[in-house]
Amino acid sequence: MTTAIRLEFAEVSKVFAGPGRDTAVTAVEDVSLKVADGQVVSLIGPSGCGKSTLLNLGAGLDRPTSGEVLVDGGRVGGPNDHVAFMLQNDLLLPWRTVRANVELGLEIRGAPVGQRRERSRTLLRQCRIADFAGSFPHQLSGGMRQRVALARTLAVDPHVLLLDEPFSALDAQTRMVLQQDLARNLAANDKTALLITHDLAEAVALSDRVLVMSRRPGRIVEELAVDLPDRDSPIARRQHPRAGGYVAHLMESLDIHHLELGAA
Ligand SMILES: Nc1ncnc2c1ncn2[C@@H]1O[C@H](COP(=O)(O)OP(=O)(O)OP(=O)(O)O)[C@@H](O)[C@H]1O
Ligand SMILES: [Mg+2]
Repeated sequence: MTTAIRLEFAEVSKVFAGPGRDTAVTAVEDVSLKVADGQVVSLIGPSGCGKSTLLNLGAGLDRPTSGEVLVDGGRVGGPNDHVAFMLQNDLLLPWRTVRANVELGLEIRGAPVGQRRERSRTLLRQCRIADFAGSFPHQLSGGMRQRVALARTLAVDPHVLLLDEPFSALDAQTRMVLQQDLARNLAANDKTALLITHDLAEAVALSDRVLVMSRRPGRIVEELAVDLPDRDSPIARRQHPRAGGYVAHLMESLDIHHLELGAA
């Protein structure tokens, strides 16, 4: 039996119009990647190499200049129900309570109130923020807000999660706790995810594979299979004797590309 491919980029390039006339920025060039059902893949690379651009293409927020983005074999033509994304900025609506923020996607889809309530209750519990269901975002800490954002992302039960540096604004300890919650959720619900991060240890702790991008125009220059047990427990993974070797390897491949391609 072959495993279904949930997310695919096929020879994707994206060129943006530059600031002046006749200036164009090739953000990503000829990127091909596949994420199979239930896999977690991380994308790392220098700032400005096109990681968020790829994620936006995956979410259908933008179109590729050439190539195709496919979710479940269908071309992504705009935002769709099978993909949910979570950004560094939590984008919570300040006038809605935590519960109402988590239920937003379901509300838009016209889910009945009973179903919405049950789903938000489950997710707020899973994301360990249930005690604050009636609070407003400004009453929460940064880590708590990201828990709400995670619950909201999971609420619509997407096939594919796209996560753009979801924990980068958090302190190291909060980040580790949220990584643990995310990993447990992804494993328990058999979710497929593409995670962008600058934190190499996070990439190794959370993923099955790590893809390394070059400087702009971003291309995938390396793929590292992470052969560690316990993908649902990043804290245990960090302590695994082989984890440090993977991180060191990724550090080296990023540095090599800096040297090869020079500073921007
Ligand atoms: N809407 C846009 N219009 C014009 N140029 C853009 C646009 N979005 C991104 N770019 C350019 O594309 C390149 C890649 O940007 P992108 O945000 O994808 O990088 P990134 O790898 O996510 O960087 P970081 O790690 O800093 O978040 C940059 O040079 C950026 O200026
Ligand atoms: Mg980015």
